[in-house]
Amino acid sequence: MAEIEIGEVETGEHIKKDIQLIKDGIRIDGRRFDELRKITLKLGVLKRADGSAYVEWGKNKVLAAVYGPREIFPKFLQNPTRSIVRCIYNLAPFSVDERKRPGPDRRSVEISKVSTEALESVIMCERFPNTTIDIFIEILQADAGTRCAGLTAASLALADAGIPMKDLISACAAGKIEGHVVLDLMKEEDNYGECDLPIAIMPRKKGIVLLQMDGKLTRDEFDKALKLAYDGAMKVYEMQKETLMKNITEVGEGDGY
Ligand code: CDP
Repeated sequence: MAEIEIGEVETGEHIKKDIQLIKDGIRIDGRRFDELRKITLKLGVLKRADGSAYVEWGKNKVLAAVYGPREIFPKFLQNPTRSIVRCIYNLAPFSVDERKRPGPDRRSVEISKVSTEALESVIMCERFPNTTIDIFIEILQADAGTRCAGLTAASLALADAGIPMKDLISACAAGKIEGHVVLDLMKEEDNYGECDLPIAIMPRKKGIVLLQMDGKLTRDEFDKALKLAYDGAMKVYEMQKETLMKNITEVGEGDGY
């Protein structure tokens, strides 16, 4: 069977591990292979941002804030035909076991870039010429899958800001641990497993706006992991919709509608 290999990767085979990730078909945090971690979504958590959202996804804690559309400076960055989307992903120094040096590094620059591209593919940028839409994803606590949690939060924050979008973005990862394809890897599984495959989708249009792969999969495993991640992202979409609907109802009730 042909194997897909992308980028410089460290697979489970190369990492010495003294941890058993699966016992009797159950993962170390008690989940089955196709189970998501517990996810909690909140809207409008920041007063000064135009839109915001907070996501707890397993042990991940993620905040997203949106500012804009607003005038962009310096002026030479302006585009008279559309808004410029800028997404910054930041892993807080205290979010990981070993203090991370503050500021951007290669990893966060990469995640900011792919997140910007994913988000601008759903935002109706042409409606806001000469402006910018700034999106900040702050990872307060990390436990693998932060880019998926970040994109899920960012898309909710955009909706909270009332920015017109063609679709939401929902994200989820699948991967391979101890030879099994599983949904939504947590940190130990990400560290000691064989592969991580995060994706972000446009759930209504059924498109993929982000797909990355760290590790090795056979083609069959890839197909299986992609389907699992897609179905996981659709479950996240249902939770996002529920959160948005609840918020609309709450606003409506508060305003006496
Ligand atoms: O978080 P995500 O799975 O999207 O990205 P990753 O690059 O695969 O990182 C997996 C996990 O490694 C992160 O969620 C963090 O828990 C951890 N990590 C860390 O401990 N220190 C870093 N400097 C970067 C990542």
